[in-house]
Amino acid sequence: MRLRLTSVRYEADQIVSLEFADPTGAPLPPWGPGAHLEIRLPSGLIRHYSLCGDPARADRYRVAVLRVAAGRGGSREIHDTLRVGTLLEVSAPRDTFALAEADHHLLIAGGIGVTPILTMAEHLASRGHPSWRLVYGGRSRDAMAFGDRVARLPQGRAEVVCQDERGLPDLDAAIAELPEGAHVYCCGPAPMIENATGLCGRRPDLVLHTERFAAAPARPASSEDGAFEVELAESGQVLKVPADRSVLDVVREVLPDVAYSCESGFCGTCETGLLSGAAEHRDDLLTEAERDAQRSMMICVSRARPGERLVLRL
Ligand code: FES
Repeated sequence: MRLRLTSVRYEADQIVSLEFADPTGAPLPPWGPGAHLEIRLPSGLIRHYSLCGDPARADRYRVAVLRVAAGRGGSREIHDTLRVGTLLEVSAPRDTFALAEADHHLLIAGGIGVTPILTMAEHLASRGHPSWRLVYGGRSRDAMAFGDRVARLPQGRAEVVCQDERGLPDLDAAIAELPEGAHVYCCGPAPMIENATGLCGRRPDLVLHTERFAAAPARPASSEDGAFEVELAESGQVLKVPADRSVLDVVREVLPDVAYSCESGFCGTCETGLLSGAAEHRDDLLTEAERDAQRSMMICVSRARPGERLVLRL
C-alpha cells in the first residue's frame, strides 16, 4: 500500500518515530504486538521496522528508527532526507515475533529493540495479565526511547537499566528466577540475544523468542564454498554463482527488481521458492524442518554445494 508519512518525532538521541496513514483516510490492516512493516524508501532500499504504536488505532502505523551512522544507509536516509508528506510503499503488517499465550512472560529489550517489546508489555498490561516482567537496557537515559510509556506501565513490572549508571541488565538473574514454561522475548543487539540464548539453553523448559535487527555473528567461512549454478524457472536461464559471490548478487544482474533488504539472512525479504536442488541454508530464519523441506531459501546468504544446481522460482 502507498501510505503518507504524517509525522516524524524525536524520541531519543538518534531515534525518531515515524507515523504513516492512508492518504484517503482509509483504515489500515490490523496488527498485533511484535508485528513489523516492510518499507520501501525513496532510494529503493527496503527496510523492516517493528510497529510500536497503539494496535487499537486503525488510522495510523508508527515505527521508530535508530540512526546507524555506519549502517547500510536505510536509517541515514530516513533521518536525513525523509520529509512529512512523502508517500512510501509500505507492506501490510507481518507477524514474525508474535506474543504467545503463556502464564508468564519475560520481555527483554536492548536499545531500539524496545519497539516490539514495549507494545507487548502494553498489551499484557492492558489485559491485566498477572505474571510478566520487562527488562529494558540501553546506553544511557538520553539514548533510550519511550521512557514515558515505560513509566506508565504498572508499577514493579518494568526494570530500566542504563549502562552508564548500572552496567548491563542482569539477564542471568532474570532468567534464573522464571517459573517453568515461561516465554522469553528478546530483541536487542546481537550480544544481548546471544546471552539470552545461552542462558535459556540451560533451561529447556523455557520458550525463547528472539528478533534480530542485525545479523548473528558471522559464521565461519566454509572451506567448501565453491561455484555452483542456479536456474531461473521462468526464463530457464542458468547462472553461475562463483565462490565469492551470493546468489542474490548474481540474480540481480538479470532481475534487478528482485526483493532484498538485509543481505545478511535475517529479514526474510529475499526468501525464494526452491523447485529442485538442495540448498545449504545459512540464514537465521528458517526452522530445521523448513531447511529439511528445501522448499525455499534466502538467496542473500544461502548457497549450494560446489558443482550442484538449484532451480529457483524466479
Ligand atoms: S535480504 Fe534479508 S534475508 Fe535475504
